Amino acid sequence: MTDDEMIAELVNLAQCDIDAIEAYQQAIDSIKEIEIADTLRKFKNDHQRHVEKLNAALKKLGATPLEHKADFKGFIIKGFTAIRSLTGTAGALKAMISNEEFINKRYLTATIADFSDDYKTLVTENYSDEKHHLETLKVLLTELNP
Ligand SMILES: [Fe+2]
Repeated sequence: MTDDEMIAELVNLAQCDIDAIEAYQQAIDSIKEIEIADTLRKFKNDHQRHVEKLNAALKKLGATPLEHKADFKGFIIKGFTAIRSLTGTAGALKAMISNEEFINKRYLTATIADFSDDYKTLVTENYSDEKHHLETLKVLLTELNP
């Protein structure tokens, strides 16, 4: 990939991670179970870390890092809107599972893209977090509705 192509791909991934941070915050706000909320908080922090690393990579490539603005107005990624209609813990978990399915697909595509080694490592590490998030959310939902 050319530098411009890598930049476009990293920007897209960072945008996914920013949407995920916001979606997790909305989910956390609607969950009363402390343990589940704590798990989601950890996942939100993982996404925060992804944004920081992707932004560092973007800077290295001479591109402008993405901002997560405090006055977040809406999700850039279409698939994330499900979070708005959630009801209760099960609804929040289901919405986040669908968001994580989207992110997992997105990161999987990125891991097979022709990145140079440094960026490939970054994308692969992030993808490994994403797989963990999705698997854990599914387990949490099952435990909620056995
Ligand atoms: Fe995730």
